[in-house]
Amino acid sequence: MSEKLRLAGVMGWPVEHSLSPKLHNYWLKQLGVDGEYLHLSIKPNDLAKTFRSLPSQDFVGWNITVPHKEAALQLVHEVDEAAYAIGAVNTVTVKPDGRLRGSNTDAYGFIQNLKATLGDLTFYKPCAMVIGAGGAARAVIYALKKEGFSRILVTNRTLERINTVTSSCDVVEWGKKERALEKVTLLINTTSLGMEGQPPLDMPLSFLQPDAAVCDIVYKPLITPLLAEAKQQGNKIITGIGMLIHQAVPGFEAWFGVRPSVTPALTEMLLA
Ligand code: ATR
Repeated sequence: MSEKLRLAGVMGWPVEHSLSPKLHNYWLKQLGVDGEYLHLSIKPNDLAKTFRSLPSQDFVGWNITVPHKEAALQLVHEVDEAAYAIGAVNTVTVKPDGRLRGSNTDAYGFIQNLKATLGDLTFYKPCAMVIGAGGAARAVIYALKKEGFSRILVTNRTLERINTVTSSCDVVEWGKKERALEKVTLLINTTSLGMEGQPPLDMPLSFLQPDAAVCDIVYKPLITPLLAEAKQQGNKIITGIGMLIHQAVPGFEAWFGVRPSVTPALTEMLLA
């Protein structure tokens, strides 16, 4: 008797743009797993009832994207440490007893992507600067702290919002961020500026030291104006596509019981 097809998906509103189905279905096929990963277009008002109904429809779990990550925290039975600390769930796993476990793998994906590009991170730990104060910034700051970065600077257009993401970082006023680059060893953009259809992040990098690295979590385009400038100055750059890929690994493993690998061929397929 053949096993039941196991289902997973990404839940968002809108969600059609998400690359996660392409990514997970590539792994399912490559690993010969009998499963399918779907786009789940769910309005905020339908979120709670969808969480209740999917486990009885052969779903082993699902990812959560904008705008549901914070709301999902209230709809699961238990959460992991990262989801609790970041205040957002991006991965839900249906446990054998039917209860829902919420986790956050964005911080993990961010760090894995840094390590895949830079190798050992020791050189970059003296001073990171995070641009932005939204959900993505919370995940990045949590990851940097966990990884032992010595100093974390945060800058955001709306100064007051920084207090909502962290109390233990050093705040840099938006108008003083260029000058603050002098001591920065790793710069990370967590805003949507530079994404297709959005204005670029207006941030000259002339004060940045030549051996500092610059990371953008935006991956469309892969080389954002910020990364293009960093590259032109000779700084190392870390693109955003790797974070998307690496954050997906723990979910896939929890749902389907096999750990997928991250390869250049996979990255190329996603960017094609
Ligand atoms: P996410 O959860 O994906 O991080 P978010 O919570 O909407 O999204 O946060 C978006 C971030 O991008 C914020 O830091 C936001 O700055 P504000 O807090 O000042 O709104 C930043 N951002 C968006 N558009 C911006 C712009 N035009 N200039 C500067 N910062 C911008």
